Amino acid sequence: MAILKIARMGHPILTSRALPVEQPGSPEIRRLVRDMIETMLDASGAGLAAPQVHVPLRLFVFRVSAERAGPDAEEVPVTTVINPEVELLGEERVPGWEGCLSIPGLNAVVPRAWRIRYAGIDCDGRRVEAVASGFHARVVQHEYDHLDGILYPMRMQDFSKFGFTEELTRARTMEEAL
Ligand code: NI
Repeated sequence: MAILKIARMGHPILTSRALPVEQPGSPEIRRLVRDMIETMLDASGAGLAAPQVHVPLRLFVFRVSAERAGPDAEEVPVTTVINPEVELLGEERVPGWEGCLSIPGLNAVVPRAWRIRYAGIDCDGRRVEAVASGFHARVVQHEYDHLDGILYPMRMQDFSKFGFTEELTRARTMEEAL
């Protein structure tokens, strides 16, 4: 197991389209997935896509932790999705806060579909399939975008809701204190 180096915004791999995984069950892909999970958990991330660790392949890992789960999301254990497909359900787009391990220290409000259907396979060739909503759907859309070279600032509409995590947290704390 290893903690992998995460590419930051500006690295060209993050704006390139990733290629399908040919052999999802190969030892190389299994090792990559294990290392990506370890890297995501170490960085306290909700998701991590292969291009973020300099591997231009269509796979990502994600989770919705117990701490993050709430009215807009149920808990989801660590999940691997290889060669995913995502279908947006309905026209509704909902604003919500996002961060990205490739854009450290910043957060922004990004519009996303509230409900999606996604499917792919895992390292054992089992089909991974779900209808997701809320934060679960948001994370999957964000990670899927990485496979097409799209970072969340490219989805933003309201640039007044873009800032440093530290300042945003401070402002929110002060607001709550008033
Ligand atoms: Ni990201």
